Amino acid sequence: MNLKGRNFLKLLDFTPEEILYLVDLAADLKDKKKKGILTTDMHQGKNVALIFEKTSTRTRCSFEVAAHDLGIGTTYLDPSGSQIGKKESIADTARVLGSMYEGIEYRGYGQEIVEELAQYAGVPVWNGLTNEFHPTQMLADVLTIREKLGRIQGVKLTYMGDARYNMGNSLMVVCAKLGMHFTACTTAKYFPEEGLAGECRKIAEETGGSITFTEDVAAGTKDADVIYTDVWVSMGEPEEVWAERIKDLSPYQVNRQVMENAGKDAIFMHCLPAFHDLKTKIGREMSQRFGISEMEVTDEVFESPASVVFEEAENRMHTIKAVMAATL
Ligand code: CP
Ligand code: NVA
Repeated sequence: MNLKGRNFLKLLDFTPEEILYLVDLAADLKDKKKKGILTTDMHQGKNVALIFEKTSTRTRCSFEVAAHDLGIGTTYLDPSGSQIGKKESIADTARVLGSMYEGIEYRGYGQEIVEELAQYAGVPVWNGLTNEFHPTQMLADVLTIREKLGRIQGVKLTYMGDARYNMGNSLMVVCAKLGMHFTACTTAKYFPEEGLAGECRKIAEETGGSITFTEDVAAGTKDADVIYTDVWVSMGEPEEVWAERIKDLSPYQVNRQVMENAGKDAIFMHCLPAFHDLKTKIGREMSQRFGISEMEVTDEVFESPASVVFEEAENRMHTIKAVMAATL
């Protein structure tokens, strides 16, 4: 398998074999890291630019640590610390950075921005999250599912919450690609957009996977192997949508009943950050405004043995390392 020079913009651009190759490579790099085997000679002397137009903990740290482990130098460009979009176009930025760096990570808004960056950069560009997709998160999730359940093909994954945004879209795509059964269990207005869903259904027909949308919590979570959720309001969305989201999505909170209705050995996953208690500023603010102490997942489920969220977070680093190792 040779992915040298490839961009990593969305999983729709990759075959199932290529996706699994990256997951296998991540598992191998993880094993090496645990054994203390250094990999700094893999890409020694290279440099990558990390553009973040939205904030991040996991993705930024994963890119920085992974790059260091591969012998790569990094430059972090924070949401206010560059000319991008304000004084300089994406195409110009791409050509400047492409002349200095061997690879570019981009986290920001529309998918078309990261696609344009890739078009002009002349070096691999990696999507660190857009409004539409979060592909590096998918590799971490697949690695985690395989570690926990011992399989990928045929796994039943139910996503609850806002399924039309980056996480719902990306999980639907990766399930279709890898022959998993994806269910969006939420209010109909939060179902993924029909065009993308149709494309995924076609892919799923070939891989043995399936795509289901339901508003019925009991039916949608029944016997699921993975219950997955994400924040109800994503980065970059206006403040005003909180009230509507809380009202619409509260029936789809991941709680004890949901986990009991899922499969016996079901795991709980979340890309994080999560609102499961009052230990965050926004969590406390929403508690004062709406009288709730938890949002998309209860603290009980978040802290339960079924919850694999921190292993999932760790796997972000190993999988992002695989993406850089393979494409540089
Ligand atoms: N899951 C994830 O992308 O986390 P960050 O926003 O902290 O990078
Ligand atoms: N949907 C969330 C994912 C965060 C990793 C957001 O875009 O804010």
